[in-house]
Amino acid sequence: MHRPFRPGILGILAGAGVAAALAMAIMLPVDTASADSEARFRPVDDPIVKAECGACHMAFPAGMLPAASWQKVMAGLSDHFGEDASLDDATRREITDWLVANAARPGSRLARDMPADGTVLRITDTPWWVREHRGEVRPGAFEDPKVGSKANCAACHRDAARGNFDDD
Ligand code: HEC
Ligand code: HEC
Repeated sequence: MHRPFRPGILGILAGAGVAAALAMAIMLPVDTASADSEARFRPVDDPIVKAECGACHMAFPAGMLPAASWQKVMAGLSDHFGEDASLDDATRREITDWLVANAARPGSRLARDMPADGTVLRITDTPWWVREHRGEVRPGAFEDPKVGSKANCAACHRDAARGNFDDD
């Protein structure tokens, strides 16, 4: 049977629609500063914080903890999760100010999901972090020698240093 190829107006419209949707998906703005996003965080862009707090592990985005938690972490650097991470007073104050200024915004979606009173010092102990990873990681994944710890974000999130946590 002879069937001439005629896409017709509907076929052309459908094709244009798909192309437009693709273009929009590619052009969607990326809000790296939003503390409300569950997957994207403003990476540490202060050179001192980056150097001092990125020496042993990645410099964790300030938006991952509330201000009170950062204050507690910074007040206890001589016994920092079993390590001595002490700094001179001036540097400690400067870093504390930066972390507090860039901490999770009170009232934001993430802030509502972490105790504001500074009782939680680990990102990995916050309710939001636990929720994001519940059932997502195979048993034993954090103890895997290639990972070693829950705090080794970059082992699973390749783009963690740029504040992007959605490409595991
Ligand atoms: C001398 C090494 C060292 C330095 C410097 C250091 N840390 Fe840490 N930090 C550690 C270790 C070790 C842990 C525990 C990691 C683990 O449990 O796997 C840790 C854990 C953390 C955690 C908790 C991570 C989690 O489990 O959610 C935070 C928050 C943190 N550090 C913040 C900081 C900040 C802020 C600075 C800069 C003032 C800093 N660290 C500098 C060694 C260091
Ligand atoms: C053993 C691998 C592993 C480690 C280590 C790990 N994650 Fe994840 N993370 C995952 C998986 C798997 C998911 C779920 C898939 C997804 O949503 O991207 C996830 C999800 C997330 C999300 C939500 C992403 C989204 O798309 O909504 C954030 C934010 C996140 N992780 C942050 C962290 C941070 C911060 C650390 C380190 C303190 C960390 N993760 C350590 C595997 C890991």
